[in-house]
Amino acid sequence: ATAGAVVAVISDNVPPAPFRPVIENAATVPAGFVSQEDGDILAGLDGQSATVDLRSEMTVSRNVIAQTRSGRPDNVVMLGAHLDSVPEGPGINDNGSGSAALLEIALKLGPDRKGVNNAVRFAWWGAEELGLLGSEAYVASLDFEQQLDIAMYLNFDMIGSPNAGYFVYDGDDSAGTGAGPGPFGSAQIEETFNSYLRDQAGVEPLPTDFDGRSDYGPFIAAGIPAGGLFTGAEDIKTPEEAALWGGTAGIAFDPCYHAVCDTLGNLDRTALGRNLDAAAWTTGVYAYSTDTVNGVPPR
Ligand code: PHE
Ligand code: ZN
Ligand code: ZN
Ligand code: ZN
Repeated sequence: ATAGAVVAVISDNVPPAPFRPVIENAATVPAGFVSQEDGDILAGLDGQSATVDLRSEMTVSRNVIAQTRSGRPDNVVMLGAHLDSVPEGPGINDNGSGSAALLEIALKLGPDRKGVNNAVRFAWWGAEELGLLGSEAYVASLDFEQQLDIAMYLNFDMIGSPNAGYFVYDGDDSAGTGAGPGPFGSAQIEETFNSYLRDQAGVEPLPTDFDGRSDYGPFIAAGIPAGGLFTGAEDIKTPEEAALWGGTAGIAFDPCYHAVCDTLGNLDRTALGRNLDAAAWTTGVYAYSTDTVNGVPPR
């Protein structure tokens, strides 16, 4: 294997999660009814009748973790994307987009015979959609020393939305919206993503809150510097944002968010390409050195 080759480790550290309802054995129940059969409390509470599944099951979900053979293992640049999707649709933008970006970065690092200075660790998370279960279990599985070995965590969840915005997690809380800044170092990460998007992709990014809705949550809770990219989900693009980025004001960044139409057609491939490039560049910068702010690009 070459110096930069990645080695995959299947991690078994995600506990069984309740599986989403399946269609077989579904029953229509009247408004206000709470199913006794399996303790499922989904039905009818809004005054509508609803379909509830009488069968639930436990299943095991897994993370897939891979790390470069080269680079300091005590100053790891960690990248993550959730590999699961919701049962309502195929999950191509959410989150095939981020998962594919990580895979492409790993493949491009693989043949780098010179290797990297800092190890790069990839995580394809399981069970994000059930409440960040994979990333929670992973961070909880690390002792304090192992947490300190992670220099930063970079998250990629929805990076090719069809009516894309260009959002970078707001490490310094410059938006001042109340979510607060990320752990020390997160501002530097935000600025590295911003500088690539501005200077090399030609788009002006905006900050988005660390609101806890994706797999960076357990990392920032542990005080690990974090950052990442996001092109928007169910929120509506404003006229100002459409003027800045193009696309259509008044509709969602991703009208197919968590829907059956989140297919291969549900991608802005220009946005996906720019964000992949920003992710790869930022990974290269920090794999080279975590000391630099808008550091030297990789060799
Ligand atoms: N984590 C959300 C999901 O998978 C999407 C999301 C990503 C929302 C980033 C906000 C910020 O559905
Ligand atoms: Zn989702
Ligand atoms: Zn997601
Ligand atoms: Zn900011």
